Amino acid sequence: MSDTLLKLSDINISFSGVQILKNVNMQIQKGEIHCLIGENGCGKSTIVKIVSGVYKPDSGTIEINGKSHSVMNPTAAMEEGIQIIWQDFSVFPNLTVFENIALNQDLYNKNFFVNQKERRKLARHALDLIGVDIDLDATVGSLSVAKKQLVAIARALLNNAKFIIMDEPTTALTKNEVASLFKVVKDLQKQGMTILFIGHKLDEVFEIAENFTIIRNGEVVKEGQTKDFNQEDFVYYMTGRNIKESLFDAPNMDKDSKPVFETKDLCLENEFENVSLHINSGEILGITGLLGSGRTELALSLYGMHPATGGEVFLDGKKIQVKSIDDAIKQGIVYLPEDRHTEGLCMRRAIYHNIHMSTFDKFVGKNGISESDMYDDALKWVDKFHIVTPNVENPVATLSGGNAQKVVISRLMSMNPKVLILNGPTVGVDVGAKFDIHEEIRRIAGEGVAVILISDDIAEVHANCNRIMVMRAGRITDEVRNCDVTEEELAEMLSRQE
Ligand SMILES: Nc1ncnc2c1ncn2[C@@H]1O[C@H](COP(=O)(O)OP(=O)(O)O)[C@@H](O)[C@H]1O
Ligand SMILES: [Mg+2]
Repeated sequence: MSDTLLKLSDINISFSGVQILKNVNMQIQKGEIHCLIGENGCGKSTIVKIVSGVYKPDSGTIEINGKSHSVMNPTAAMEEGIQIIWQDFSVFPNLTVFENIALNQDLYNKNFFVNQKERRKLARHALDLIGVDIDLDATVGSLSVAKKQLVAIARALLNNAKFIIMDEPTTALTKNEVASLFKVVKDLQKQGMTILFIGHKLDEVFEIAENFTIIRNGEVVKEGQTKDFNQEDFVYYMTGRNIKESLFDAPNMDKDSKPVFETKDLCLENEFENVSLHINSGEILGITGLLGSGRTELALSLYGMHPATGGEVFLDGKKIQVKSIDDAIKQGIVYLPEDRHTEGLCMRRAIYHNIHMSTFDKFVGKNGISESDMYDDALKWVDKFHIVTPNVENPVATLSGGNAQKVVISRLMSMNPKVLILNGPTVGVDVGAKFDIHEEIRRIAGEGVAVILISDDIAEVHANCNRIMVMRAGRITDEVRNCDVTEEELAEMLSRQE
């Protein structure tokens, strides 16, 4: 077809004997916004690297504007107008905005004397094309992630981009920043640009893309127009499973039961005040709020890391003191941190060591630590939480994000807690693993552990917490049952101004 910009035919590539892409066929039409979607590790970036000439496929052809290339190289890709916005944007932090944007102009114009004034003019022009205003003289290192990205896009435009590929461009952006980026992307399309948008957040895909290609394990499993499908269909194609979350309703909660965990007027100076909450056995209590609402500070305080400066805490009806993490753990309060990589795991240690990191002493006998007991016990957790790994002796670093998170949860559960505090348990986790983790959390609540789920993922809190508290500016401002509100109403509560 004459208006096909990119056509990949039967692309195969292997790394160290493992086939990563299998007979990939994909087409992108001129002027469209096309989404390439799939779970982490399915091969999306590998496709981008093949199109941009970074990797050479083992077989298959790449056709651009009707011209066939069995091998691309980065210069040829550029000459065809292909520009990539990589995940790290490849900007130079020490240079200014205009220097970054006009970086390649000397080479392009084959003129090594493009002067400062000229560069500034070019940079201004490029920023105008995307309708944004960034200080030309700011050092790029000092800009927000979103602005760095816009600088990278402006530079791509000056490099005669006709086809812009964005590899997971929204990962580090806030909701507002994503909205501005989408506006830029749609404007570019109006100016005739073709865009390949790579992602795995489905609401974004539906918002931005007309056409899509879904990859699973290196194979194209579905392509089409987004208007003909819904998110559930996409989840199915991405994971190969039918995943549908029901609203959690604390089925095991005894209506007459007393709270397992309770706080009264808990305060932490400058962070939050008068937080009174309770959780009964079988319940999952959600705490949600925007960044800076105090949700994480509250969690850290319940866990003894930043002890409260006022108020009371009760466990099984008895008043307790939580002045340190040690206190919390001794009472059976455990915490899953927001950032599992820096706080929850030793990435280079074996999976089974990580599972028992907090319970080593259980395996100490006369002859020291019994590695084999620890190993066997870890297998039980791997089985219980469906951790996908060929060998528990492998380092945690070999696991996907979702499976690594299951290791942290196993570690916490092996401590036999009464209260489990989870902070952002599925951040950066794929849909499939996310569903598994939610199932596990529900099972844990069913076993009688009081669960507090802190998250700014509204859909997650709404589906999985029978009761939800909303925090704003260090205060609990609303409390609702999940069955009484919609996700939209909950979102509204988060951002409502006083
Ligand atoms: N240079 C490489 N060497 C070995 N394995 C690689 C290389 N690049 C990618 N892979 C593997 O290929 C698979 C797909 O990776 P990638 O394309 O980055 O996935 P995605 O972008 O969809 O998350 C992963 O399992 C990854 O570990
Ligand atoms: Mg990738």
